[in-house]
Amino acid sequence: MNRELKPLEKIKMLLSNYPKERHHLINFLHLIQDELGYLSEEAIELLSEHFSLSPAEIFGVATFYASFRITQPAEHEIQVCQGTACHVRGAEAILEEFSRQLDKHYGEQGWSSKVSLRKVNCLGCCAIGPVAVVDGQIESRMTLTKVREIVRRLYQKDNLEKIREQNDQE
Ligand code: FES
Repeated sequence: MNRELKPLEKIKMLLSNYPKERHHLINFLHLIQDELGYLSEEAIELLSEHFSLSPAEIFGVATFYASFRITQPAEHEIQVCQGTACHVRGAEAILEEFSRQLDKHYGEQGWSSKVSLRKVNCLGCCAIGPVAVVDGQIESRMTLTKVREIVRRLYQKDNLEKIREQNDQE
């Protein structure tokens, strides 16, 4: 039978071949994050058994390093640079427009579980600012019009996927 393993099953399988010494913990946290996108409670429980550490100890390690996430990432991630060069070119207005457009399309209460909107510091490409990163893609020379187009595009894509899922269930 050639079925695809679910992420937690895959983690169990990887752990079964992995040494139990604690100094391997960080490597394994990276593996889990690559697999799940974050460190879930279930995954931390599995690690706790494997490495004979309490979940609190593992949690402590995971929260010490900025590279680990302990909450499930939103489906869409928008980062808006607020560094000095972007700031002088209107980055604050770009951030506010993202928030306004997300409210408008997804509803004021509705978007925070679907979209993560974050301020970030200089992304290292000041010459093309103001800059935003949308689902990993750099958007340069941001304008309010571009913000509206981006949010509309995300919303339409989400709606299309929802319709496809509903059709698949029927
Ligand atoms: S200040 Fe925004 S990319 Fe540098």
